[in-house]
Amino acid sequence: MVSEEFRIIPIFTAYHLIHPKPAVIVISVDESGRANGMTAAWTTPLSHSPPLVGVSISPLRYTYQLVKRSGEFTINVLDKRYVKQAHFIGTVSGRGRDKLAEAGFSLMRSRRVKPPHIREALAVLECAVEKEVEAGDHVLFIGRILEAYAKSEVFDEVYKPGKAKILMHLGGACYATLADELIKP
Ligand SMILES: Cc1cc2nc3c(=O)[nH]c(=O)nc-3n(C[C@H](O)[C@H](O)[C@H](O)COP(=O)(O)O)c2cc1C
Repeated sequence: MVSEEFRIIPIFTAYHLIHPKPAVIVISVDESGRANGMTAAWTTPLSHSPPLVGVSISPLRYTYQLVKRSGEFTINVLDKRYVKQAHFIGTVSGRGRDKLAEAGFSLMRSRRVKPPHIREALAVLECAVEKEVEAGDHVLFIGRILEAYAKSEVFDEVYKPGKAKILMHLGGACYATLADELIKP
């Protein structure tokens, strides 16, 4: 029996209970080096050493094809002011169109991987795929972090909550950001 203070949540939206998660842009490239971006909330750190992160991508996404073929991607963390752009990049496919340019983002060459990164991002992780794991209707791409950088006004060992207004996804078309205060135990 669950207490009456709880409300039963449909299983298919139960993941909303472990959101918010940053709504990042995963960038990958095609054979000619053309970049495509996809919004992703399902990213997670996986290992300190080696430094691994996971991103769960549906095989229906154009990004899936590009990451599977090229084995590289960048993760771009955005400020909340880019909510419209992130939602657009997360609801339209990049097959046959340049979403990143349409969203008005400036792309910069990355240091260690072919996919570029977003100049306007708060932080960037450059990753190379180590392994793919089937996960139901998604595939978890486990990537090794080859390089990572952040804007110093928003990050110092950890994000500065008053300064880093990270775009976070609650679920559906609902977003949030960090509160101003740093909470310590
Ligand atoms: C906030 C948000 C988070 C998303 N997270 C993911 C995700 O983690 N994995 C995924 O496969 N799709 C996710 N999507 C859906 C893709 O971003 C969307 O299908 C996109 O149009 C795929 O683009 P592409 O076909 O150019 O790769 C998300 C969408 C939004 C709006």
